[in-house]
Amino acid sequence: MTDEFQYRDGILHAEDVPIPEIAKAVGTPFYLYSSRMFAANLGAFQSALSGIDHLVCYSVKANSNVAVLRLLGNLGAGMDVVSGGEYVRARAAGIPGDRIVFSGVGKTRDEMAAALGGGIRHFNVESEPELRLLSEVAESHGTVAPIAIRINPDVDPGTHEKISTGKSGDKFGIPVSRVRDAYREAGQLPGIRVVGIDVHIGSQVMDLAPFRRVFRLLADLTRVLREDGHEIRRIDAGGGLGINYRPAEDPAPSPAEYCALLADTLGHLGVEIDVEPGRFISGNAGVMVSSVLYRKTGEARDILVLDSAMNDLLRPAMYGAYHEIEPVIAPAENGRTSAVDIVGPICESGDTFARGRELPQLSDGDLLVFRSTGAYGAVMASGYNSRPLIPEVLVNGEEFFVIRARIPVEDLINRDIVPEWLTAS
Ligand code: LLP
Repeated sequence: MTDEFQYRDGILHAEDVPIPEIAKAVGTPFYLYSSRMFAANLGAFQSALSGIDHLVCYSVKANSNVAVLRLLGNLGAGMDVVSGGEYVRARAAGIPGDRIVFSGVGKTRDEMAAALGGGIRHFNVESEPELRLLSEVAESHGTVAPIAIRINPDVDPGTHEKISTGKSGDKFGIPVSRVRDAYREAGQLPGIRVVGIDVHIGSQVMDLAPFRRVFRLLADLTRVLREDGHEIRRIDAGGGLGINYRPAEDPAPSPAEYCALLADTLGHLGVEIDVEPGRFISGNAGVMVSSVLYRKTGEARDILVLDSAMNDLLRPAMYGAYHEIEPVIAPAENGRTSAVDIVGPICESGDTFARGRELPQLSDGDLLVFRSTGAYGAVMASGYNSRPLIPEVLVNGEEFFVIRARIPVEDLINRDIVPEWLTAS
């Protein structure tokens, strides 16, 4: 894959812009994205599927900035949304309704109504009661909801337990044993039109074997459901293709390999194939840029206290996730390195990005980046410790644009309301 975060003359650049220049203009910490990498990653999926009728529906949850959605939408992407808020974002980015699929285990009546009113490709329905409610909402709006049923295939994707979604006992989808009954009911509901079948087994999947198992199951189910008289013209294969977070690990399967598998297992069915990649498209397209506030002497080793924290990038605290950390100014060759702990300023020990990480000598004021944080970075940020949400910046060639301004702490505080009885003297 192309990497647009490279050293030039010893300074880390994003595409053609030196990162210190952006840090000076914007202030740290901030997220920094490469337009070219978003485009290349989407393009890799689109071209790998070019032989098949398909739509790449980018999973908005991975990075939902409207500028990012617009960039991907302009290149032909559809969107996978999981909330009314994400639906509004996708529409605000100019994505037509017929390119938006609505997934998620807990859609509300209002969310259903908004998507039916604004236009929708299909709903991925996750339970029988949801099916019934959707039918009712569609009927009351004088329309019919196109749906796929998300099956729970009971397949272990071999990923972190918190992001594994396709095993029996997980909260997602309808078990295979009930699928034919669910489709029978769907076929009889007045506000429902069956268009396909859906699955999503988990995220950061690094092996094709579980995908192979589940795609074969989808092929079998498609035959059975067609025999039962349902029109299955679309298969939504979900997302989940992993990316490499560590340079030395076994390479993740490529979109070409993943899509070849889709074609092999499902191509003969004459269906349209939707995929919902999130992390693959945005993960490696972004970094988080931080400064070292203090180099502090610890008991076992030095501790770098950064100006970013777990509220800005939650993945290490939440999943024990690993992110490469690189200095913005390249270290001297054969320069000294040492193992350090890298932490944020938040008042709990969970606010630790890395322990014993071997890094060149960094000290107060130095800039560093966290790699592969374009997915599930900014979107999972919070205002914990009343820290303002950090900006997002998009680079395009020699230019950069702030695509989300730093959200001042006043904006957080001003939403708090002190009741009058507390202020009356
Ligand atoms: N489709 C559905 C229905 C999903 O639930 C997800 C992710 C995707 C597509 C996109 O999966 P991807 O291609 O990005 O793997 N916060 C976690 C990841 C949670 C993923 C949830 N679902 C993390 O930081 O690793």
